[in-house]
Amino acid sequence: MSVWNPPRRSASGVSKVTVPALLERKGCSARDCSGKLAAVTAYDFPSARLADAAGVDFVLVGDSLAMTMLGHDSTLAVTMDEMLVFTRAVRRGLQRALLVADMPFGSYQASDAVGVENAVRFVKEAGAEAVKLEGSRVSLVKRLAEAEIPVMGHLGLTPQAVNRMGGYKVQAKTREAIELLREQAHRLADAGCFAIVLEGIPREVAAELTAELAIPTIGIGAGPECDGQILVWHDLLGLGERAPAKFVRRYLRAGELIGSALEHYVADVKAGVFPADAESYHLPAEKPAVVEQVAASVA
Ligand code: KIV
Repeated sequence: MSVWNPPRRSASGVSKVTVPALLERKGCSARDCSGKLAAVTAYDFPSARLADAAGVDFVLVGDSLAMTMLGHDSTLAVTMDEMLVFTRAVRRGLQRALLVADMPFGSYQASDAVGVENAVRFVKEAGAEAVKLEGSRVSLVKRLAEAEIPVMGHLGLTPQAVNRMGGYKVQAKTREAIELLREQAHRLADAGCFAIVLEGIPREVAAELTAELAIPTIGIGAGPECDGQILVWHDLLGLGERAPAKFVRRYLRAGELIGSALEHYVADVKAGVFPADAESYHLPAEKPAVVEQVAASVA
């Protein structure tokens, strides 16, 4: 078992993002105190390196990898052991951004004790600096805070509750649902969460919660008033199979670029134009004896 010790400064000399540093950014506007918090999911080493170099504040190894990386229909199937493999890969790619690991379905539902055990695994075996969990798990958040493991909450459209919600639907649209969400968010903040992801809720509701809570809110499909934003890697870069949801802004159509590069490669190989002579190794022309030796050994 390897234990990861976070560097206080990255190789580039830029300060390491820590949980207290994220908390200090509560209420930062687009203009002051280095702006809003920017986060993205990542699941492997090269993506983590790119996200870190681009200046994201934290990277979430989201359980969305069940769908984006493993091809499942929902996030429910991914296991702790699978999440640990991806989290370790991301760990190796990050120097500056905070690493948050998502607790997968089944890793904390049975009891708080099981939840603490699995959160400890993320920290000890994969170098996570915080964990995220879905829903109103107030007692578990308290236990994790006591165990010195920073926790990010996640409310609103919580994909692990897809069967209860009957699909991926915008939440908190009625007065009762808004009041319940408000109560849950305050209880999670009081229990010790250092930030809360608000997913798939009306902009107006997210704006009110952001104004009320003392901790940063991170929006995904929750409008621009949140203290920060997160997007799924594949959505942001246009790598998904389906048309993205309304809240996604695609900054690249990487799937199309990769697809056409691969088609080009296949066509080149089939036509015999790859590799060219310049992409081939040659025997040294000035040593004909070697050529003869090789020719003899091949014969
Ligand atoms: O798993 C995930 O990618 C997430 C984000 C959508 C916040 O939980």
